[in-house]
Amino acid sequence: GFLFTRLIKILHIGGPGSGKGTQCSRIASDFGFSHVSAGDLLRNEISAGTDQGEWILEIIREGRIVPSEITVELVRKAIESSTAKRVLIDGFPRCEENRIAFEKITGTEPDLVLFFDCPEDEMVKRLLSRNQGRVDDNIETIKKRLKVFESLNLPVVEYYSSRGKAHKQDSVSRES
Ligand code: C5P
Ligand code: MG
Repeated sequence: GFLFTRLIKILHIGGPGSGKGTQCSRIASDFGFSHVSAGDLLRNEISAGTDQGEWILEIIREGRIVPSEITVELVRKAIESSTAKRVLIDGFPRCEENRIAFEKITGTEPDLVLFFDCPEDEMVKRLLSRNQGRVDDNIETIKKRLKVFESLNLPVVEYYSSRGKAHKQDSVSRES
């Protein structure tokens, strides 16, 4: 409804290990955005120890995408409980289904989509060396996440590019 129409919405898309979370935290604090990380919201569900959390854990362990009705609901709640007028949504949408569900539930489109471009070998290197204790930072799951990224997430970037909304950034040379 009205809340989403008035809100400035930026989506941040990038491959696994491209540095989305780090960059989003910086943008959020520098420019006064509320930082909503889809992956963090899903991991919070796992920590809560519910049946739904157990099911999400299995999906994340396999590098697959959690059904949109769950993720969009978590993202919607996070946005509604924030008072910021600008929101930066990190790691979302992951696939066309995510995108369509989000646009349907909010009745709006994003103002801007940032695509954090990173070579695959660099992403793999970062994921294997970050030591955050994540169940999906092992080489088997990483290979699956990269495939899912290429086949399902890149088409979303293409879609927004065709609408003039996607802005590509180099995540390697832009370290600061
Ligand atoms: O963005 P992040 O790397 O934290 O995402 C970790 C995992 O969470 C993804 O590999 C995927 O399994 C799940 N995820 C999802 N849908 C999203 C964001 C993350 O299913 N929109
Ligand atoms: Mg992240």
